Amino acid sequence: MPDPTGPLQGRTAVVTGASSGIGRAVALRLAAAGAAVVPAARRAARLEELAGSIREAGGVVTPQPTDVTRREEVEALAEVATSTYGSLDIWVNNAGVMPLSPLVERRVEDWIQMVEVNINGVLYGLAAALPAMREAGAGHIVNVGSLAGRRPFPSGTVYSATKFAVRALSWGMHLELGADENIRVTDIQPGVVETELFSHIPDEASRQGFLETWKDRASLQPDDVAHAVLHAVSAPAHVSVSEILLRPTAQPT
Ligand SMILES: NC(=O)c1ccc[n+]([C@@H]2O[C@H](COP(=O)([O-])OP(=O)(O)OC[C@H]3O[C@@H](n4cnc5c(N)ncnc54)[C@H](OP(=O)(O)O)[C@@H]3O)[C@@H](O)[C@H]2O)c1
Repeated sequence: MPDPTGPLQGRTAVVTGASSGIGRAVALRLAAAGAAVVPAARRAARLEELAGSIREAGGVVTPQPTDVTRREEVEALAEVATSTYGSLDIWVNNAGVMPLSPLVERRVEDWIQMVEVNINGVLYGLAAALPAMREAGAGHIVNVGSLAGRRPFPSGTVYSATKFAVRALSWGMHLELGADENIRVTDIQPGVVETELFSHIPDEASRQGFLETWKDRASLQPDDVAHAVLHAVSAPAHVSVSEILLRPTAQPT
């Protein structure tokens, strides 16, 4: 049940990659805190199911099917948020893919897809959110980076590079948009989270390696990450939570 005195009452939040995992949990948590939420992803049926859960709990939601690699669709996403709710206060760039494989396999299509979704998707999100936030004189952009944005790992070189890029972009956004535009920026950097991300790893050895390593360990749950996002976006206006690194206690590196 959304809290009528919740910290996000009267605010509008766009969440990309909201059809599963972390994005879904973030959409649920922001809605429960009082925000009107516009969840986006490609799988429309999943978004409708999420919207049903939010409405059932008394929340406000407008799902918008979106491919973040298509700039015009991301612009349309911002337009839906502002025209439906009159503001665009929070934009969570969460959509991401992680088709891990060793570099020597030369899966160039997978490398490009990671760049398209994990980097270009963030750039399109930034471009789409900026006009409304600048006009309002305030806003908050949350980028879901990764612990991998701090150190590469075998089979994860390109994925890691995209998350290093997210970290650099987040840092630069704070420099350019923080003091001058009153737009706060947060880079959320989770370690291993139990989501569908790993099931899409095409390289059999990489996928099995992950599953084997984590079969007896407690990974983070999507709502653990959503909790960190809520912490950042509900901080007082003069507080900019720049980065949150969170990982399973059982993840040593
Ligand atoms: N799980 C982890 O251990 C972990 C750790 C650190 C960081 N992360 C990051 O967390 C974010 C969310 O991942 P997750 O773990 O929650 O995985 P997930 O359950 O697989 O969710 C990924 C989301 O991204 C969406 N997506 C993929 N391509 C898209 C596109 N072209 N356009 C729009 N949406 C797209 C998917 O929706 P559709 O397929 O419906 O489009 C889905 O909603 C990613 O940025 C990931 O890199 C995850």
